[in-house]
Amino acid sequence: MSLPPLSLRLREGTKDSHRLAETTPFIRAFFAGRLTQPVYANFLAQLRHVYAALEAHFERHRAHPIVGALYLPELHRTAALDADLAHFDPSGELAAQAPHPATARYVERLAEAAGQRPDLLVAHHYTRYLGDLSGGQALRRIVIKMFPSAAGGAGLAFYDFPAISNHSAFKDAYRDRLDALPVDEPIGAALVAEANRAFDLNRAVFAEMHTALTDA
Ligand code: HEM
Repeated sequence: MSLPPLSLRLREGTKDSHRLAETTPFIRAFFAGRLTQPVYANFLAQLRHVYAALEAHFERHRAHPIVGALYLPELHRTAALDADLAHFDPSGELAAQAPHPATARYVERLAEAAGQRPDLLVAHHYTRYLGDLSGGQALRRIVIKMFPSAAGGAGLAFYDFPAISNHSAFKDAYRDRLDALPVDEPIGAALVAEANRAFDLNRAVFAEMHTALTDA
C-alpha cells in the first residue's frame, strides 16, 4: 500500500492543531486588531528568537538530504524581523531582551532537534513558513490598521516575501518538495508529530503574548 504524500499527511495530521492555533485568544485579538504597539513589538522580538534559531540550524544542516531539500533562503525572516523591530522598537530594548520562557522552550526544542534529528527541523519549517504564506498574509492589513505608522510599508517586512511573486504557486512547489523527500513511514509519522509539537510551541508563545496584552 502506498503512503499518502507527506504534504497531505502534514496538512491532515495538523488540522486540529491548526484549528486550535486559529482560535487562540492572542491570535483572535490580533485578527480583531486589538494589539498594542508594545505587545506587537514584543511578539516580533519573540519571533526573531525563533526564526534566528530555525534559520541558523537550517544553514548548518543544509548538506543533510532532508533539510537541504527545504533550504529556501527566500523564506528567511530574521532580517525582515530586524527591520520591523527597528521600526516598532527603535531603542532596541526588546530585541536585546532574553526570550520569554515559552520562546526559550521553542528555541531549545529547535536546538534539540538540530542536534539529534535534524530531519525534524522540516516540521518546524513547514509550520512557520507555510503559515506565514497563508493566513499570516491577512495580518499585514491588520497591522496597518492598528499602527498607522506602518501604512507606508515601514515595519511590514515580515509579511513581504520579495523573492516570491506567487504565493500559491510557491506553496505548491513547496509541497512538491515535501513529497519528494526520502521519507519512509516512521520518519513521516515523526514529522507529523513534530509539526504538532511546533504548533503547541507556537500556542505557548501566543499564550504568553496574551498575558502581556491583558496585563498591560
Ligand atoms: C486566525 C489565524 C489563522 C488563519 C485565518 C489561518 C488561515 C490559513 C489558511 C486559509 C490556510 C490555507 C492556505 C492554503 O491552503 O493555501 C492556512 C494554512 C496553514 N496555516 Fe494557518 N491560519 C491561521 C493561523 C495559523 C498559525 C498560528 C499557524 C502556525 C503557527 C498556521 C500555520 C499554517 C500552516 C502550516 C498551513 C499550511 C497547511 C497545509 O496546507 O499544509 N496558521 N492557514
